Amino acid sequence: MQKFTVEKLSGAIGGVVHDLDLALLDDDDFNRLCDAFWQYQVLVFKRQALPIDQHIEFGKRFGRLHTHPSSAGVDGHPEVLLLRNRGKSKTITEVWHSDVSCEEQPPSISILQCIESPPYGGDTLFASQYGAFGELSDGLKAMIEPLRAVHANFGMEATHPVLRTHPETGRKALYVNKGFTKYFEGMSVEESRPLLNYLVEQGSKPDLTMRHSWEAGDIVMWDNRCVMHYAVHDYGDMPREMHRVTIAGERPI
Ligand code: OGA
Ligand code: MN
Repeated sequence: MQKFTVEKLSGAIGGVVHDLDLALLDDDDFNRLCDAFWQYQVLVFKRQALPIDQHIEFGKRFGRLHTHPSSAGVDGHPEVLLLRNRGKSKTITEVWHSDVSCEEQPPSISILQCIESPPYGGDTLFASQYGAFGELSDGLKAMIEPLRAVHANFGMEATHPVLRTHPETGRKALYVNKGFTKYFEGMSVEESRPLLNYLVEQGSKPDLTMRHSWEAGDIVMWDNRCVMHYAVHDYGDMPREMHRVTIAGERPI
């Protein structure tokens, strides 16, 4: 058992885990880590540099792994998503999103390891969607409670509740995002846009966020069921490489 501690990173979201080597995790550590993760929504682990097999093993502790519907994996490890700088114009993560929310059962958790970081920039932002829901007025909460929204990309489409209940914590989170959410069920794209934009804007306001500045060997994990994230591409064509292990999720309710 490792005597790790978690230090809070911002008012709304995120914690950095100290004195934990993920390669040596035992079951007690894992159980404590889960409790911290449900609470903080995003956990940062510095100086891990996990070999790919151990990255995969760590992911499997949380459940079955998810394979991305269109993006390629690392050679020999199709379940490890490779994110490599392909130039600013091809960035698809530079938008507030929750991973692959266009799937019927979108991934629950994403575990990203930095293999190579650019000399500056390339940070990732995270925003608490518990906070996003919590800060809405009672009137707007009641109005969006029954709504469902269509999420689409990569040639697939799924309809999810606008508010989802986290299966571990029972807390409600806003579940719409800029990357995938297209319109509210039963409404046109044009009719949906003002409210959708408002919700994503509220859900990404600075007070609800934290920001991680990467060094090679860092691991950051987030819970797609209650977090949106945004990859800042301010590093031009400089190298940046990340590996992502992703955990399969359940149908949002
Ligand atoms: C992701 C993603 C963020 C980043 O891995 O899902 O959006 O900073 N990446 O690379
Ligand atoms: Mn993402």
